[in-house]
Amino acid sequence: MLIQFKAVSKVYQMGEVAVHALHQNSFTIDSGEFVSIVGPSGSGKTTLLDVIGCLSRPTNGCYLFKEEEVQNLSDRDLARIRNEKIGFIFQTFHLLGRNTALANVALPLFYAGLPKEARMARAREALSQVGLSDRIHHRPNQLSGGQQQRVAIARALVNNPDIILADEPTGNLDSKSGGEIIELLHTLHKHGHTLILVTHDKELAGLTDRTITIKDGRIIGSEDPRKQMEHFR
Ligand SMILES: Nc1ncnc2c1ncn2[C@@H]1O[C@H](COP(=O)(O)OP(=O)(O)OP(=O)(O)O)[C@@H](O)[C@H]1O
Ligand SMILES: [Mg+2]
Repeated sequence: MLIQFKAVSKVYQMGEVAVHALHQNSFTIDSGEFVSIVGPSGSGKTTLLDVIGCLSRPTNGCYLFKEEEVQNLSDRDLARIRNEKIGFIFQTFHLLGRNTALANVALPLFYAGLPKEARMARAREALSQVGLSDRIHHRPNQLSGGQQQRVAIARALVNNPDIILADEPTGNLDSKSGGEIIELLHTLHKHGHTLILVTHDKELAGLTDRTITIKDGRIIGSEDPRKQMEHFR
């Protein structure tokens, strides 16, 4: 089991006011799954992804990442997990503007302590996986939105993570570049990568194996076509 939530809650304390962003959610995600998270604005999708990605800890409940209880890990351990085991893709790409595509993609490997030659070789390989071998020396402002998102995807892939998390990866793109990103994510899944993505895009959600629906901080549905099939066997 890659991810296991047991009654996980998240409360943001804003002075006197407690914002209950997640209420006692339980679910599991296995290696190799392609899962979408959908729900209205403010329902807790980004909060859920942040907890899954070890960017924040649950307030209550238990989260096991690869059988390890996240609550008990130090900040340093969490940072190590984020760097080595999780790839992040954001709506607004989050690339470093002064760096080339190659340097952006190689950065996680620097933090992982790899020597320069190995970093460059692996960054080139990741950029070729996303079809950008001919743009490695371009800076973000010399790339289209779709190309910038592909650089971000290469950066998420470069450490060969256990899981790739994406928050509205097509949200800032026109429909053509969005479609190309959807195709790319689908290809990564076919090659065995585990992906969890938050999306408003019905086309993208429709491609995933399972859709987790969240409303007011509660998971109200976890549609899994394969599990439904099991009832008929
Ligand atoms: N850092 C924070 N501090 C306080 N409250 C927060 C914080 N982050 C999120 N919230 C609150 O938690 C709730 C869930 O927010 P979240 O960002 O997870 O929603 P979302 O489903 O991702 O929405 P959107 O579709 O608009 O991105 C909201 O009510 C929000 O105001
Ligand atoms: Mg959000």
